[in-house]
Amino acid sequence: MSDQKKTATLTVNGQSHELPVLTPTTGPEVVDIRKLYAQAGVFTYDPGFTSTASCDSTITYIDGEEGVLLHRGYPIDQLAGKSHYLEVCYLLLYGELPTAADLEKFENTITHHTMLHEQMQYFFRGFRRDAHPMAIMVGVVGAMSAFYHDSTDINDPRQREIASHRLIAKMPTIAAWAYKYHTGQPFIYPRNDLDYASNFLRMCFAVPVEDYEVNPILSRAMDRIFTLHADHEQNASTSTVRLASSSGANPFACIAAGIACLWGPAHGGANQACLEMLREIGTPDRIPEYIARAKDKDDPFRLMGFGHRVYKNFDPRAKVMKQSADEVLELLGIENNPTLQVAKELEKAALEDPYFTDKKLFPNVDFYSGIILEAMGFPTSMFTPIFALSRTVGWISQWKEQFSDPQHKIGRPRQLYLGETERDYIDIESR
Ligand code: SDX
Repeated sequence: MSDQKKTATLTVNGQSHELPVLTPTTGPEVVDIRKLYAQAGVFTYDPGFTSTASCDSTITYIDGEEGVLLHRGYPIDQLAGKSHYLEVCYLLLYGELPTAADLEKFENTITHHTMLHEQMQYFFRGFRRDAHPMAIMVGVVGAMSAFYHDSTDINDPRQREIASHRLIAKMPTIAAWAYKYHTGQPFIYPRNDLDYASNFLRMCFAVPVEDYEVNPILSRAMDRIFTLHADHEQNASTSTVRLASSSGANPFACIAAGIACLWGPAHGGANQACLEMLREIGTPDRIPEYIARAKDKDDPFRLMGFGHRVYKNFDPRAKVMKQSADEVLELLGIENNPTLQVAKELEKAALEDPYFTDKKLFPNVDFYSGIILEAMGFPTSMFTPIFALSRTVGWISQWKEQFSDPQHKIGRPRQLYLGETERDYIDIESR
């Protein structure tokens, strides 16, 4: 934290209070209100956290106005173009790009943690066959605290590190097995001779009677999708992980809480909702009808994959995703994919409409990702599990960072109380 010479003055009930102003490396300054209640006897009010910094962090920086996303200072488009997911995992976890030797050691560690405890198979079998893969992921990841009890002591840095590696390594296996269980096919074990993205694709699409030859185009696109979803500052699911962790809960329980939060259609569930919306629109001639619905105050319908709490410009991830969608579909010979056509026409129509441009609503990371995932052969129900798999390293990195602050304490917001003041109980005979 930089020096706190600057202050802000807040006058409440005729009393002025000097509040320190904290200076960031880049981005908005922060008024430190930690002592406000003790000094002034008032709370601040910010239900959606639109103007609230919940922590300090060195991991990810977003400039919403400029459409900038940096991971440890490196722009997302450079990482997506030049790096790969496990190298980005190392960067997020440890703060610097690895040397070749460090990267080899890290990748070797992750590769050798991809198998699940054999008994976990039976845990999957407790779900109905038609269970949504996200329901399975929430349950199975939470259950990891029962199977990997030897890495749940959050006060032991070595156990924290082992839990981090186990989660990053095992999430593709858990997501793939959730998909296999959902389809009624046998589980496919990971293979140590495959890279992270290829292993995941093979575990999803191979069957015992016919192996799956990983197409390098698809594994590169899959790896890029993992990278584009890796971390994103203090979004809803990351804030959920931080809040759960602040009580001292074990890492598996905290990540399960993050998965549960990500599932919502306003957050990570938007990629599934967006593709279902594009399919429902079906053809470009129906776009005006849906644009009108999105603008109608009385209609709860919103354009899925559009808008963002922070980005008031293009989501830089959406730009890379759109380019990847064009490349992958062309290389697969399905460039005239009707869903992609509708997406492009819809984006064009929305960005020519003052309703969207005035409110600074642009395509976000979820607008094009589903088109690529569908082209790879995934059902829409697997879109959010893939987001959860990708975001695990971000959740874990933010979880780890929380422990680096010796002052960290349990998160416990207050409220604006609008209920009844104290009153006496009324016996039922008198009601
Ligand atoms: C993710 O936070 C993160 O970083 C998340 C994420 C990550 O990587 O972790 O980036 C991943 O969650 C991306 C967002 C995916 N969600 C969607 O695509 C769902 C559709 N988008 C909206 O639900 C909405 O835009 C949110 C939830 C993303 C953001 O909502 P905000 O910031 O609370 O904005 P808002 O709801 O206050 O909207 C501001 C105005 C409103 O109109 P007014 O009340 O001012 O008249 O814009 C309108 C909204 O009605 N609006 C939309 C819209 N999004 C906002 N209108 C139509 N379609 C939309 N998509």
